[in-house]
Amino acid sequence: MIEIKGLKKTFGDLQVLRGVNLTIPKESITFIMGGSGTGKSVLLKHLVGLLKSDEGEIWFDGQDLTKLSEREWQRVRKKIGMLFQEGALFDSMTVAENVAFPLIEHSAGTMREIQKRVEELLEAVELLPAKDKYPSELSGGMKKRASLARTLALNPQVILFDEPTTGLDPILQITIMDLIKRIKETYKLTCVVVSHDVILALKYAQKIAFLHEGTIIEEGSPEEVKHSSHPFVRRFIDSALLLEKKEVFYE
Ligand SMILES: Nc1ncnc2c1ncn2[C@@H]1O[C@H](COP(=O)(O)OP(=O)(O)OP(=O)(O)O)[C@@H](O)[C@H]1O
Ligand SMILES: [Mg+2]
Repeated sequence: MIEIKGLKKTFGDLQVLRGVNLTIPKESITFIMGGSGTGKSVLLKHLVGLLKSDEGEIWFDGQDLTKLSEREWQRVRKKIGMLFQEGALFDSMTVAENVAFPLIEHSAGTMREIQKRVEELLEAVELLPAKDKYPSELSGGMKKRASLARTLALNPQVILFDEPTTGLDPILQITIMDLIKRIKETYKLTCVVVSHDVILALKYAQKIAFLHEGTIIEEGSPEEVKHSSHPFVRRFIDSALLLEKKEVFYE
């Protein structure tokens, strides 16, 4: 579905991506994991054309995205949606207006049709009752769901989620992941989730890839990755599992 080959990106003297090779399978959930500041967000931004690589290829839909002109990107951007780490809702617009925005921008129907579509999308993320609220009136979880509805508006084939559950309580983390899983199945989406959360990755991913020091050091099914012998991956997973078992201290 998406094939990344030898992707390199340097900022000044900082070599962030040093030859990333990764295949993202169709209609599945792929988790990209790794420490803070390793370049996970940078990698996602290449997939929506927000950053240009120094070297490498990104194959999607029979074309190399790194070779596209700004004009050709316009078309591809409709197919690959991204949910930013910061959410990026427009503060001066209500939830409904935020979701309507991409539809109006792409003239996707009459006002009445757009209104109907917005309601369907808000229904799908269980946010219809909050449609007239402003982002400042929403909780973190509601903002994530509003952003998700806006990303879904243009019927993308791929959605990139940059830390969709970070900062949410455990119930909401599961709610958001269940929602991602459900929309993946309903809309036959290919989902890429950047996350630090090993437990969620093991539960929801079909594929997990570890980014470390600029390359993918481990990839495979949750079961394969869980038994990785790579020292960094081992430490990352064992630390997460140890934190999970914290309850032993209270017994
Ligand atoms: N536009 C930019 N210009 C210069 N440096 C950048 C730019 N974007 C990212 N970087 C640097 O690239 C590195 C990787 O950043 P990135 O945001 O991808 O990390 P991350 O893996 O997403 O981390 P986190 O888990 O904390 O979100 C960091 O050192 C960051 O400072
Ligand atoms: Mg990031």
